[in-house]
Amino acid sequence: MHLALLVCAPALFVATLALDNGLMRTPPMGWLAWERYRCDIDCDSDPKNCISENLFMDMADRLSEDGWRELGYVYVNIDDCWSSKERDNQGRLQPDPKRFPGGIKKLARYLHDRGLKLGIYGDMGTYTCGGYPGTPVEKIEIDAQTFAEWEVDMFKYDGCYSNATEQEQGYPLMSKALNATGRPIGYSCSWPAYQGGLPPKVNYTQLGEICNLWRNYGDIQDSWDSVLNIIDWFFDNQDVLIPAAAPGRWNDPDMLIIGDFGLSMDQSRSQMALWAIMAAPLFMSNDLRTVSSGARNILQNKMAISINQDPMGIQGRRILKEKSGIEVFWRPLSNNASALVFFSRRTDMPYRYHTSLAKLNYTTGSYKIFDVFTDKATTLKDATEFVVSVNPTGVVMWYVSAPAKLNLRLFYEGGSFQSSTYRDDENAIPRVFL
Ligand SMILES: *[C@@H]1O[C@H](CO)[C@@H](O)[C@H](O)[C@H]1NC(C)=O
Ligand SMILES: *[C@@H]1O[C@H](CO)[C@@H](O)[C@H](O)[C@H]1NC(C)=O
Ligand SMILES: *[C@@H]1O[C@H](CO)[C@@H](O)[C@H](O)[C@H]1NC(C)=O
Ligand SMILES: *[C@@H]1O[C@H](CO)[C@@H](O)[C@H](O)[C@H]1NC(C)=O
Ligand SMILES: *[C@@H]1O[C@H](CO)[C@@H](O)[C@H](O)[C@H]1NC(C)=O
Repeated sequence: MHLALLVCAPALFVATLALDNGLMRTPPMGWLAWERYRCDIDCDSDPKNCISENLFMDMADRLSEDGWRELGYVYVNIDDCWSSKERDNQGRLQPDPKRFPGGIKKLARYLHDRGLKLGIYGDMGTYTCGGYPGTPVEKIEIDAQTFAEWEVDMFKYDGCYSNATEQEQGYPLMSKALNATGRPIGYSCSWPAYQGGLPPKVNYTQLGEICNLWRNYGDIQDSWDSVLNIIDWFFDNQDVLIPAAAPGRWNDPDMLIIGDFGLSMDQSRSQMALWAIMAAPLFMSNDLRTVSSGARNILQNKMAISINQDPMGIQGRRILKEKSGIEVFWRPLSNNASALVFFSRRTDMPYRYHTSLAKLNYTTGSYKIFDVFTDKATTLKDATEFVVSVNPTGVVMWYVSAPAKLNLRLFYEGGSFQSSTYRDDENAIPRVFL
């Protein structure tokens, strides 16, 4: 059944229009300041850890020197609290001169010289969430032009201090204004997050036509509770959200907090695995100067990234919620492959989950399985019963290749040809990657 969906699914998206700026055909990846650095503007106390051009240049250095850029992490995104409290004498936004003495354009050039891109932040209301000058309707054109002059590559448009009527006008207008600058600028809309994230208040058809990505739900915090809350909301509402996503238009469950303080290694793997299943933008919000090697290995996991970046761009779904607390997630991938995640909500001990690919609705065949976090490989027939051991709050994640047709070894027995295909399975239950 899943494979049937997989074959038909691309046709469903032919008619789906995406914002026509040619950008973000796969989910954008990079680094975003907010979760880790918030509105820390106290550079006198801690010049290395405040919102300033030095912070963004440091992160750019790390992205370009520590192997991140080659994996696709190319955006370096400024969030709130970058600007001066006043517009300049021509009514334009300007950075705080003390913290960004070189100006935004120079910072953009610094990133471009390293093969990276710059993102910046604004807000639809009278003020940003942090109390800096907003970009209400009458300022949209001038601010879009300013960002283009600065050679900005992405813009996140927040929604504090605006109402539904203003948002309905402002989010599409900004899309037009960015287009009119002639500079391709990726456009992230916080609109749905301010309208509850669900129809009828949110029109995902329209969002896909005007934005490259959108925040559907609340801000992530540095805790497992927060990650779990986001996972639950996105998969509880998957039937609404999955059709909204396609190349150039993505649901955004918010930043990766891997490498911060709140998640264990198992929980970090869970966030990485489920963000890959969701075709989510991968914006890390951590300190790349001090990130642990454990966190780095998870964030730089090539198979998880390539599942996230699958060119078909079909968002995956939760296919099972077991009473045991095990949940199974599935995403169709190009070349008739797929990804599977076995996730444990348990809090006691590793759980041995028994199933088979046939029970997960895989069609008849023999499948090559690659374990994303252990690098081990095996082959499983659809009917083979197997066991995976899933740690509390952890995952086992698989890349599952296209099925090879079972090689029916026909042999002559009792006057007719018989198939011996399943003879070697018998009663043994493989403990896969235990
Ligand atoms: C602006 O929109 C037009 C029409 O949708 C598109 O062809 C063009 O590439 C867009 N330009 C930019 C800079 O986004
Ligand atoms: C939204 O705010 C504008 C002022 O910017 C006001 O004129 C309008 O009445 C408000 N609409 C609602 C529905 O609150
Ligand atoms: C949603 O937006 C699309 C595209 O802009 C539009 O055609 C459609 O009528 C809207 N749907 C609703 C229910 O407003
Ligand atoms: C995927 O599977 C379908 C049905 O088995 C087959 O027709 C198609 O050629 C396969 N596509 C690729 C890319 O292997
Ligand atoms: C498998 O397919 C059946 C029939 O369509 C469906 O009821 C069941 O929920 C599916 N199971 C999974 C794990 O997707």
